[in-house]
Amino acid sequence: MKENIILIGYMGSGKTTIGQALADKLSYQFLDTDAYIEEEQNTTISHIFAEYGEEYFRNMETATIENLEKNTNHSIVSTGGGLPLRECNGAILQKMGFVVFLSVKKETVLKRLEGDTQRPLLQGDNVEQKMEEMLRFRNPIYEYTAHLKVEVDNKTVEEITEEIYRNYMIMTGQDEKKEEGK
Ligand code: S3P
Repeated sequence: MKENIILIGYMGSGKTTIGQALADKLSYQFLDTDAYIEEEQNTTISHIFAEYGEEYFRNMETATIENLEKNTNHSIVSTGGGLPLRECNGAILQKMGFVVFLSVKKETVLKRLEGDTQRPLLQGDNVEQKMEEMLRFRNPIYEYTAHLKVEVDNKTVEEITEEIYRNYMIMTGQDEKKEEGK
């Protein structure tokens, strides 16, 4: 397995925060697919959605991970919440490294993203209902794609980071190397 950790999960599940903490702990590079696309296009995700539509954005996501899969090692990759939904993307993520699903409850997301204007899919009326439907549809896909599922509600960043770190070290056999080196 390539030595990368890929974080997937719904908006507000903490992919960026946990990703940065993991990158610090492992001395890995931190990458974020949304930030990558915004930088490449020199504009915001909201603008891409408004100007070119969701399908265009999804094509950019696929192109981004195809590129990262070829060129990335020793990195933590935080992905946009809708990225694993395309079947071909799921397979690329699994090839890229250890895929971790940050599972979050609707109530936590509502609290964390209250007043958010940056996420085009969570604007307008009936946000709570939209969220509920999206989570029902997406959660089985996240679960199916990931090597590890971590529930994030009511846990600290340190607890979540440690849980992922421990599992990653086992998956990559680095726990044994550490033992031997003692
Ligand atoms: C999306 C999640 C966003 C961003 C875009 C669409 C989604 O990323 O890619 O607004 O479909 O869930 P975050 O999960 O980082 O918020």
